[in-house]
Amino acid sequence: MLAAIAADHRLRTLVPAGSYSKDHNVIDLTSNDYLDLRHDPVHQAALHEVARDFPFGSGGSRLLGGEHPVFRDFERMVADFADAEDALFFPSGFAANESVATTLGRLPDAAFFSDELNHASIIDGIRASGLEKSRRRIFAHNDLTMLESQLAQTKGLKFIFSESLFSMDGDTPDLNGLQTLADRYGATLVIDEAHAFFCNGPEGRGLCPGTGIRHREAIRILTCGKGMSLQGALVCSPSWFRDLLINVARPFIYTTGPSPVLAAAGVATMQRSAALQEKRDHLAFVSRRLRVTLNGLGFSTARAGHHILPVICGENSKALALSAFLAERGISSRAIRPPTVPAGTARVRLSLHAGIAEPDLARIESVFRDFAP
Ligand SMILES: Cc1ncc(COP(=O)(O)O)c(C=O)c1O
Repeated sequence: MLAAIAADHRLRTLVPAGSYSKDHNVIDLTSNDYLDLRHDPVHQAALHEVARDFPFGSGGSRLLGGEHPVFRDFERMVADFADAEDALFFPSGFAANESVATTLGRLPDAAFFSDELNHASIIDGIRASGLEKSRRRIFAHNDLTMLESQLAQTKGLKFIFSESLFSMDGDTPDLNGLQTLADRYGATLVIDEAHAFFCNGPEGRGLCPGTGIRHREAIRILTCGKGMSLQGALVCSPSWFRDLLINVARPFIYTTGPSPVLAAAGVATMQRSAALQEKRDHLAFVSRRLRVTLNGLGFSTARAGHHILPVICGENSKALALSAFLAERGISSRAIRPPTVPAGTARVRLSLHAGIAEPDLARIESVFRDFAP
């Protein structure tokens, strides 16, 4: 099996990230640490402080001796920030998405509608929900016409799943359009804000605020491992759904609670949110400028509009060749191949971050100029 994967240029290996390289000249475009907080002394100092004050291990499942009061503090703070009725803290975004889908799937007459490019954790959660296939419909990426016809054909309690910033394409759905369809067909929106939370929108509140999305009715998944440079995730939702998750979500119930240090670090990071606006603005500037440059050089970045910039190569070998070319010139990137993305759409994914200074940007542009098609 491994030989077949290798023959198809899909063999994965674990490679230390560029930012952990001893060569400080390497520009790392592989991480989801979009605000570059791993290299931020204030962030690191805050983590050291909470590590002194809080236990690292929670000691058990949150339902069995692992509940630390700081979880609730963090949840209330994030719910407030996101204008949600309440929030529940999970050890990871994967567990959060799996919990949301499997819990919603237990509601009588539930029916799911999911964008075809949704993250693996949403897909797996939907599969694990046990709903029969006719009650779990997949619509073409961002295709609201197809979604509407599926909604019109289906009766029951409907849930529409989408990301707000797609992890491999860097594009955004028509969030207002999704809310309009949800209203028209009595559906609830489930929006994964993993890549936008803490990076996009006013004070990093995500891409939903400022749109027609009704925050207090929707279910939103905000992860802490990306913009916040921590770990874990929060499901923001109406209170009844939080209660239901606590009672039936197996990935919540049957796992050790997250580290209280992480929740305390989340509180500290949230308190600093306004001060991080400069980083967010710089991230938006870098994203816009690199996209314009690459497009001008003839590279396709598909419909990307923010800090995730896919350079579409098509064949797996071409994506590997571009990634190797960049690596030889000190730019660390990742070639993304099937099954992570559809066959024939292999790409080099540039994960931009606020630590890219003007000279780095010029260097990236110059290397792409040398490779230009
Ligand atoms: C869109 C999306 N949702 C959820 C997750 C899972 O989050 P976590 O890394 O916290 O498990 C990811 C992770 O890469 C993601 O890209």
